[in-house]
Amino acid sequence: MSLIFRVETLAEIDSTNDALKARAMLGAEEGIVLRADVQTAGKGRRGRFWVSEAGNLYTSLLLRPTKTPAEAATLGFVMAIALGRLLRAVLNVPVEHKWPNDVLVDGAKISGILLESGGITGGKVDWLVLGIGVNLRHHPAETLYPTTDLLASGGPPLTPDQALDLLLAEFRPLYAAWVAGGFAALRADWLAHCRGLGDPIMARLERGEVSGRFEDIDADGTLLLRMDDGALKRIAAGDIFLVAR
Ligand code: BTN
Repeated sequence: MSLIFRVETLAEIDSTNDALKARAMLGAEEGIVLRADVQTAGKGRRGRFWVSEAGNLYTSLLLRPTKTPAEAATLGFVMAIALGRLLRAVLNVPVEHKWPNDVLVDGAKISGILLESGGITGGKVDWLVLGIGVNLRHHPAETLYPTTDLLASGGPPLTPDQALDLLLAEFRPLYAAWVAGGFAALRADWLAHCRGLGDPIMARLERGEVSGRFEDIDADGTLLLRMDDGALKRIAAGDIFLVAR
């Protein structure tokens, strides 16, 4: 049976991810979708701040699939595929995936995804909170990467509610496919639109930087980097940058 999403909307909150995580730990059932007009402490990957002023989409989904932590870690790719499909349908410019879960429009970041999980019972995660921010009407000044928003990219003036409805409609069948068959069946879809695949990249890791060729991602979304000495380095977390050839 397909999952029913129940959308709750708030004017303001610190972080939709944090609020939903607190409820997940208290046993809230899966399918809750929390959307806020404004976040006062929006969280990005790797401890960064996610600027969250009114006009854009800030939302988190509570899910409880029966997956190991490694399998669960691929869900961010699934949400990125859903957003990629949605943007391709409304925009006339290239929409790409940037490892791990960013979505780029014409080379600029329009969205970020923050996946958090907790509790393990019998080797499976108890809950997942999948947070996504999509720049609809404005975008923060460039920090690590160029950024954009839907309007600036020539897209329609969607409200956050409209964007959320469209996104959930794209995500629902992909989530069902992922629950049934894992990331294996969806990986090719993500790779087909991957930015920098096969190209020289620099990866900024928790400790230091490494360079090489972006060879592939494996079944749990780990980036496979072919180093200059021929060795293959597996990168589970970090930021990647294209390097001029
Ligand atoms: C990134 O760094 O690219 C990930 C950004 C994720 C932002 C979203 S906005 C909704 C949800 N709540 C948060 O605090 N963060 C995520």
